[in-house]
Amino acid sequence: MQKNVTVINHPLISHKVALLRDKNTNTKQFRELVEEISTLLTYEAFKDIPTITVEVETPLERTQQQMIAENSVAVIPILRAGLGMVNGVHTLFPTAKVGHIGMYRDEETCRPQEYYCKLPQGIENKICIVLDPMLATGGSAIAAVDLLKQKGAKNIKCMHLIAAPEGIKALHGAHPDIQIYCAVQDRQLNEHNYILPGLGDAGDRLFGTK
Ligand code: PRP
Ligand code: URA
Repeated sequence: MQKNVTVINHPLISHKVALLRDKNTNTKQFRELVEEISTLLTYEAFKDIPTITVEVETPLERTQQQMIAENSVAVIPILRAGLGMVNGVHTLFPTAKVGHIGMYRDEETCRPQEYYCKLPQGIENKICIVLDPMLATGGSAIAAVDLLKQKGAKNIKCMHLIAAPEGIKALHGAHPDIQIYCAVQDRQLNEHNYILPGLGDAGDRLFGTK
């Protein structure tokens, strides 16, 4: 495993991923599971976020404590499916700003097509965490990171629920400077570039569009 790639090995995550994969899991349960796993991933992805020292008055005395600086984090869901992860991050860190990148995979070529980008102001000074449940070929994540770098972002992480080895290799190859977090690494892509065993189409399962 490359040094910038963290696959979280945890029974709670594994349990929830099993439920997420199950084709009988309905839209409501699927949405809740995506949020819950994203919260667990957030705990790991925030491990090395810089902190500042603040003074706090407890009922007993004054003390110093570390806090994450105001305005220092932006989460960037890749539409559509990344949207399902935002509440999971906000559960632990409600003040994270949210930017949106709209991208879909062309059905023929599987290449990402960008259709929307709106980022919080001052993106160049924030830690940007790209959210997308699926890292398949890696094309969408690579294009999102390309775009963030063009806009001036310097500190970028990517958070995925399920990653294919092909996607991890491609993303790490294109952007060796970014940290990748995923709940599980799957076996391979199929001939349509879907992840095996995977969970199917994340956007369709989140939003009930199929
Ligand atoms: C899915 C998924 C990722 C992308 C992953 O989105 O949410 O964005 O595919 O594939 P890649 O690693 O090969 O680029 P999709 O393109 O289906 O769009 P949607 O979220 O609007 O359904
Ligand atoms: N996008 C998905 O939603 N699922 C896959 O398996 C691959 C890309």
